Amino acid sequence: MDIKVSKSAAVDCRVGLAVFFVPENSSRGKESAMTDADGFLALARKSGDFSGRDGEILTCYNPGSGPDRIMFVGCGSDPLDAEGVRLASGRAIRAAAKLKSPQVVFTPLRGSSLSPVLMAEALCEGAVLAAYRFNKYRKPDDDEAENEISELIISSPSATVSMRRGVSLGMIKARAACSARDMANEPGNVWTPEAFAAVARNLEKNTGLTCRVFGEKEMRKAGMGGLLGVNQGSGKPPRLVVLEYQQGRKKMSPLLLVGKGLTFDSGGISLKPGAGMEEMKYDMCGGACVVAVMAAIAELAPENKHIIALVPATENLPGPDALKPGDIITICDGTTVEVINTDAEGRLILADALAWGIKKYKPGAVIDVATLTGAAIIGLGHHRTAMLSNDDSLAAGITAAGDDTGEPLWRLPLGKEYAKQLKSEVADLKNVGGRPAGTITAACFLEKFVKDTPWVHLDIAGTAWGYTEKSYIPGSGASGVGVRTLIEFIRNWRG
Ligand code: BES
Ligand code: ZN
Ligand code: ZN
Repeated sequence: MDIKVSKSAAVDCRVGLAVFFVPENSSRGKESAMTDADGFLALARKSGDFSGRDGEILTCYNPGSGPDRIMFVGCGSDPLDAEGVRLASGRAIRAAAKLKSPQVVFTPLRGSSLSPVLMAEALCEGAVLAAYRFNKYRKPDDDEAENEISELIISSPSATVSMRRGVSLGMIKARAACSARDMANEPGNVWTPEAFAAVARNLEKNTGLTCRVFGEKEMRKAGMGGLLGVNQGSGKPPRLVVLEYQQGRKKMSPLLLVGKGLTFDSGGISLKPGAGMEEMKYDMCGGACVVAVMAAIAELAPENKHIIALVPATENLPGPDALKPGDIITICDGTTVEVINTDAEGRLILADALAWGIKKYKPGAVIDVATLTGAAIIGLGHHRTAMLSNDDSLAAGITAAGDDTGEPLWRLPLGKEYAKQLKSEVADLKNVGGRPAGTITAACFLEKFVKDTPWVHLDIAGTAWGYTEKSYIPGSGASGVGVRTLIEFIRNWRG
């Protein structure tokens, strides 16, 4: 979908559909430029068919010149924030997809307190994210041949320059989230550890990012017993992908992003139950998130930023050489870990990536993103990402970015009492801390490898797929959660 901003009023556009975003019970005054549509709207309100309530949609045909159809999208009576605009835009695009009109023009709600940049950004995000489909491997059923919207025009007689800036930002963020969805929706036989390496090499070729890929040999040299250990049961070699963005001042402490790239999690020898196991292809959503964020950062090309992303990538399968419960492995910083349950593998591969990345780059802050624990779903359901952190100000920055983006987070505590649950009789640590507080003890495990570096852990087990259904989030499949939050955070981050 292409999106452009035009000074023309929607009623003058010869397109299949013009969408007007309408607040509840407002009478539009003379200031409105959409006189023809106002006539319709007045009739619709008078008839009682449309009041502008949140979620209401009315489509009618236009016998006059200009657009073939006119759609009113109700936005409710509360002041509209960015999330409200995303939701309304997503609803409009979903309804528009059922009509035969490749071109659509939007007239933004007037009188909103959102700046033109934020308004355009939110309209774009809602539209692009709502139009997302993953239909690569299936033929459409007869009754679902949906119209593809190829062009969206945002009508804005004033503030055109700001609106264009918002469009470009919104497009970059939304497309990045869609690319994370694309990676995650690929099946495990296609999206392998090597697929992560390939996408990173492509980014190096086509953008200003640099990339480095570790294979088994380099991992062995670095002593990455976590990543290698988890990989032992798989027939496919592991990869550690490093992507780097650096622009501006040389002496900046970088921001380190780490994403769990477990391309299929069977649980290993501690095999998961069969029902629903297919969903474990999504266990690489953290990795997809940080790769998509790096691609977006390369496009935005901000000055004075140094960002590094690491994706430890492997399958977790019960092959003949697989890790067994009771095995002891050594992480690259020398910490020994007794593997109690081979299904708690994410923390093992993240431990290597965190310890290695922190030693190598001495980052000013670290953010990891991982589908780490089923307990995050028990605690918070599918509506909020769990956040754990050793640094209040970093946590506040990520929380704010999540709120601004419509991806709410909820912070859980860390603490010595919880960390104690990871004490092993035979090694420095064991990899599980029992059933109580599973999300917290998993984060405590990671904290051992982060030490004092300011750090935020995002457990996206509940939100990476099957996320709260919204007009711009698909009812099934990967959500792309975290991508827009991290881009927003990085834009505001001074390292
Ligand atoms: N990838 C899973 C976590 C997960 C489960 C994500 C369900 C999304 C939905 C992770 O590797 C795992 O299996 N964790 C175990 C840890 C346990 C053995 C301590 C879990 O949460 O059950
Ligand atoms: Zn697991
Ligand atoms: Zn896992």
